[in-house]
Amino acid sequence: MNKIDKANNYIKANKDNVKNDYRLNYHLMGDCGWINDPNGFIQYKNVYNLFYQYNPYKPVHELMHWGHAVSEDLIKWRSLPVALAPDREYDKSGCFSGSTIEKDKRLYIIYTGHVKDETGQHTETQCMAYSNDGINFKKYDNNPIISVNQIPDDASKNDFRDPKIFKYKENYYIIVGSNDGKGKGQAILYKSNDLINWKFINIVARAKKNMGDMWECPDIFKLDGKYMFMVSEIYEIPVKIHSAIYMIGDYDFEKNRFKYKNYFPVDYGFDFYAAQTILDNKGRRIMIAWMDNWETTCQELTDNHNWSGAMTLPRKLFIKDNKLYSKPVDEIKKYRKNESVFKEITLSNEMDLGIKGDSYEIKVLFENIGALEFGLKIRASEYEETVLSYNTFSHTFKFNRDKSGIGPKGERRTEVYLKDNTLTLDIFVDKCSVEVFINDGEKVMTGRIYPHNDAINIKAFSKGKVK
Ligand code: FRU
Repeated sequence: MNKIDKANNYIKANKDNVKNDYRLNYHLMGDCGWINDPNGFIQYKNVYNLFYQYNPYKPVHELMHWGHAVSEDLIKWRSLPVALAPDREYDKSGCFSGSTIEKDKRLYIIYTGHVKDETGQHTETQCMAYSNDGINFKKYDNNPIISVNQIPDDASKNDFRDPKIFKYKENYYIIVGSNDGKGKGQAILYKSNDLINWKFINIVARAKKNMGDMWECPDIFKLDGKYMFMVSEIYEIPVKIHSAIYMIGDYDFEKNRFKYKNYFPVDYGFDFYAAQTILDNKGRRIMIAWMDNWETTCQELTDNHNWSGAMTLPRKLFIKDNKLYSKPVDEIKKYRKNESVFKEITLSNEMDLGIKGDSYEIKVLFENIGALEFGLKIRASEYEETVLSYNTFSHTFKFNRDKSGIGPKGERRTEVYLKDNTLTLDIFVDKCSVEVFINDGEKVMTGRIYPHNDAINIKAFSKGKVK
């Protein structure tokens, strides 16, 4: 049996054996097994297609396949058969991340073939597969389309992955994640007019100090008239940290260089990595990311849950005051039901809102009267709580999961200023995930939590007066 059929049969036989405790209600997950990066995000034949890094067999990262799901509204997803399996010499250790493009009605996948030798050393090349129906893919006979000998001298010959393809005027371009072999991440640009023959153009962007010693999943696009570069960095020193960052800069079309000064996190929480974006037919730049992180030990991995990994809510991107903003796509609004409204509550201690749940959206506007700190406690019980709080003295918003249950702990903080003395939050809780959109998308914090089933209370609190 071929590896695609084997994977599909396995999924069919095992998808009902996943434990439901932490399965999310309105986020994309795999049917069983492990998922990580979103791949090949595209609108094809009028539906949104999202592929993803997938090991259907076990909730761990092993021989990666490409899983596939489609959606009309970016919220409700339907699984399709596995699109790629690691079944060739050039991708035998995994079909790693990549992207898709439509050309002459065909859907093309450009992905990384990952090969590990006996010593554990790996090499990576860029490969292609295509499909006429958007479901069944055939690998190109002469893969790879970009091989190790097309890697420039000042780039690693081992780390060379996550091609993002795009069309500009009459040509196709691919940017690939890489490093310079001396501790700095970078991205390499190739060009083609037929998707088959690729020519090295330039190292299009390089890390400055403290911007990671490997760049993964690069993406470059224009947003609100500005050039935007997004990348997921691995920063090894002093400890291994993965994070997704963005830079707003200028593109020099003569030299094919992206020039920038500063970088910022895309999301200020715990679990957000390997983001991909598309421009959809409504003109929106939409981003989706893996709602986990390589440092996180997710609870789904233990106790035979038989699944791991989820995607963030799709987020619409825009630029304001030269910073990246993001908001959940409007489609999520039609899933609202059972609304509860609280108005004009003045608080100077703690209050249980009296509504309960494990999956909901909270929109809240705080007006500071004289508080030092205020916020919300969600997924709360007598013993557990996840605390989202704002400190008016230090101007910091905090996401604390020290008492969130059985998962990883810790606190993430970010600087936020009140606007006309108010703070607005749009919070999405979905069983084991929390996404907090602060001040209309100025900053976002995403994190996974693993509370017990009885942690369903919602509380508001304040030290000093807040409305
Ligand atoms: C990012 C990443 C990519 C790679 C993929 C493998 O999370 O490490 O660089 O292609 O995951 O699954």
